[in-house]
Amino acid sequence: MQTEIYQSIRAGVLEAVKNFSKEIPPHSVDEPTIIDIGPGNGILTVEIVKQLRQIYPLRGIHLILIEPSEEMMALAIQHCQASLPMQVKITPLCNCTLQGLTITEQKALQEYQPIWFINASLSLHHIPTELKRLNLEKLNTLSTSLLVTEIDDNLDELEDGSPELIYTMSDITNRFIQDVLNTSYASVQDKKSCIYSFFLADAITVLKNIQELRVEHWMSISQWQKVAQLAGFQVL
Ligand SMILES: C[S@@+](CC[C@H](N)C(=O)[O-])C[C@H]1O[C@@H](n2cnc3c(N)ncnc32)[C@H](O)[C@@H]1O
Repeated sequence: MQTEIYQSIRAGVLEAVKNFSKEIPPHSVDEPTIIDIGPGNGILTVEIVKQLRQIYPLRGIHLILIEPSEEMMALAIQHCQASLPMQVKITPLCNCTLQGLTITEQKALQEYQPIWFINASLSLHHIPTELKRLNLEKLNTLSTSLLVTEIDDNLDELEDGSPELIYTMSDITNRFIQDVLNTSYASVQDKKSCIYSFFLADAITVLKNIQELRVEHWMSISQWQKVAQLAGFQVL
């Protein structure tokens, strides 16, 4: 759902892509390669490529998509192929999380170098905190440029079931729910299903489970910067 918060996140990603790509041009405008980790339905992936095309006369694009959900991957492929006015080559790694990427798959991806950049919008927080460095190191073997967009909050520092965790989670969930309620064009049913399937479901998994079993592992921006630096990236 295109809520205000999501739209502002998306605008931030596109601004980052614009600034980055002006600084670091592609090796070629024929068919540069980019990786999108967790593209979801591909709507943002398409926007990213359209943004790049406003800056460079791209004749084609090679998209490597790493996505655990088969349903999302199918939507992403369909959307990228239908909505981009250029030649689109897609290398899908379906049913695949970044943590699950094998050495063989990683080596196969290295064959596609140079990889202009890797985008990861709202996907890397699913990786447990202690595995983040290892997985960013994996990405550093593929490209020196990684654009990460995440929620700036540190859940993993808060003890399981602690009042601070309960407060933080309710505060964030309230903000997200308010954002959905403020969306004028969505039906009551859509709002309800979005709140139940995403925000309440996430809050429940965080509050009910011990850290190892949670699926949300948010970190603060400064922690992301530290981990990225340890993984070999130069942080800007
Ligand atoms: C909130 S959606 C973000 C979609 C899109 N990137 C955007 O910003 O609009 C998160 C996506 O990340 C995928 N995902 C979840 N865990 C992942 C992981 N460990 N590695 C790669 N992708 C993951 C989900 O299946 C989902 O498609």
